[in-house]
Amino acid sequence: MLAIGYCAAVRGIGAYVVRVEVVGIPTTDIGIHIVGLADRSIQESKERVNAAIRSSGFLFPTYKVVVNLAPADVRKEGAAFDVALALTILAMDQQLDAHRLRDVVAIGELALDGSVKPVGGVLPIAISLKQSSHRRLIVPARNLAEAALVDGLTLFPVHTLTQAVDVVLGRGQPGVSSNGKPEHFDARSQHFDEDLEDVKGQERARRAMEVAAAGGHNLLFIGPPGSGKTMLARRMPSIMPAMSCDEALEVTTLYSVSGLLRHSSRLLTERPFRAPHHTVSAIALAGGGSVPRPGEVSLAHHGVLFLDEMAEFSRGALEVLRQPLEDGAVTISRAGRAITYPANFMLLASLNPCPCGYHGDRLRGCSCSPIAIARYLSKISGPLLDRIDMHVDVPRMPYEDMSTRAKAEQSFRVRSRVEAARTLQRVRLGPTGTNAAMPAKSLREHCALDDRARPLLAAAVMKLHLSARAHDRILRVARTIADLAGARTIETAHLAEAIGYRSLDRSRGID
Ligand SMILES: Nc1ncnc2c1ncn2[C@@H]1O[C@H](COP(=O)(O)OP(=O)(O)OP(=O)(O)O)[C@@H](O)[C@H]1O
Ligand SMILES: [Mg+2]
Ligand SMILES: [Zn+2]
Repeated sequence: MLAIGYCAAVRGIGAYVVRVEVVGIPTTDIGIHIVGLADRSIQESKERVNAAIRSSGFLFPTYKVVVNLAPADVRKEGAAFDVALALTILAMDQQLDAHRLRDVVAIGELALDGSVKPVGGVLPIAISLKQSSHRRLIVPARNLAEAALVDGLTLFPVHTLTQAVDVVLGRGQPGVSSNGKPEHFDARSQHFDEDLEDVKGQERARRAMEVAAAGGHNLLFIGPPGSGKTMLARRMPSIMPAMSCDEALEVTTLYSVSGLLRHSSRLLTERPFRAPHHTVSAIALAGGGSVPRPGEVSLAHHGVLFLDEMAEFSRGALEVLRQPLEDGAVTISRAGRAITYPANFMLLASLNPCPCGYHGDRLRGCSCSPIAIARYLSKISGPLLDRIDMHVDVPRMPYEDMSTRAKAEQSFRVRSRVEAARTLQRVRLGPTGTNAAMPAKSLREHCALDDRARPLLAAAVMKLHLSARAHDRILRVARTIADLAGARTIETAHLAEAIGYRSLDRSRGID
């Protein structure tokens, strides 16, 4: 007695089909035995499958049921196998016609009463099926909309194991969902609750945000408490260019494999904005765990990772940012396996200038010793600071600005300038190119300086003790400023503005 069924498993942000082989062995040792590299969560599914089969009105076989999951060399995690396991056991016991299982893949977690619960990773599973020979998928009803983001599959939404059996017997109805289909994708019509028009004054910081959004640059705000750093940062997504359909699918896939889509199942069209608390662990930030999950850096993919009060984060947490900031991806090693998750985000951070917060403030004195200030800033100095293209002072707002009734410029106006600058970058660097991610070898070609600008940069490198990386980052920011101005070449004014966004180098240079 042998029956074969199919389910699917997630690995990284991809997925693959898993073959479920079930044999019955007549012995008194009744129950399910899973062989192969099965994770503890699959061991737990034995109990659920057993109970669900009985409470759905079927019989549990009165002999030993041996289950093999293939390929055996890949570790499989999660509860998504329950439904396929139950169906294949029923087929092996001839309560179901075994050959009917051949052309259908089933995913879903079973509850003890036989109902089917939603699972994570449905989007990558649907994408992977499209590339395989399997075209029919039994999905938990609540995951239908997510699976329907991929066209070309026949989807059977089920609420219960009994309904899944009906599908296999040819009595199920394919489900349709038009929820958020990519064809109807239009991220441009987006509405943001938090708009830059609410922020008074702070012209310099607003301009820096525009430059950062236009070129994809990392940005650090430095200023005293209450100057509006957090308020500004939260409005960054409202001025970033709309996501393309491919970007939206990638972001949605990451949320799907993180189990964060279970209750919405929509295509995510807003750029992510992640603001982890400063107590976040290195693993939660980078990703990992016994069942690997994307971390905050990946949940911020194509969007913003905001580190509010950056100096409060642990050194270990800040350290893990270096690889994704350089590569746009993180690799997690776990039990000899390496999984790579995309992590191409804009780093946005805020910082008080010193422990008390008032160093350099016009009205309030700072009570910190120079040693305390140096220790405070040392945490984010060096390699990490080098990777932040722009540091900008956000001073206390003058009373005139605070009391003005005039509304500031709205985000959508800023965004239209940002979009125009991005278009120039795409023409120059290809469909996904940004100045921040421009390959070093293209710098010479696209960021050439004229005879007046070159000495200015040379002087800044000398005076601010800039590293080669910081030098290149200034050139990239200058390129973006020129793009916002619609200029073909980088002019002295563009370069001077870019150098001005290195305030931390400046304060260190004076020490
Ligand atoms: N430029 C501004 N325009 C309008 N309101 C502002 C501005 N700056 C600050 N505020 C008001 O002050 C509040 C505090 O600002 P915010 O939390 O952004 O300060 P912060 O710089 O992040 O301070 P901290 O360093 O203490 O975190 C805001 O919620 C807002 O009500
Ligand atoms: Mg704040
Ligand atoms: Zn101080």
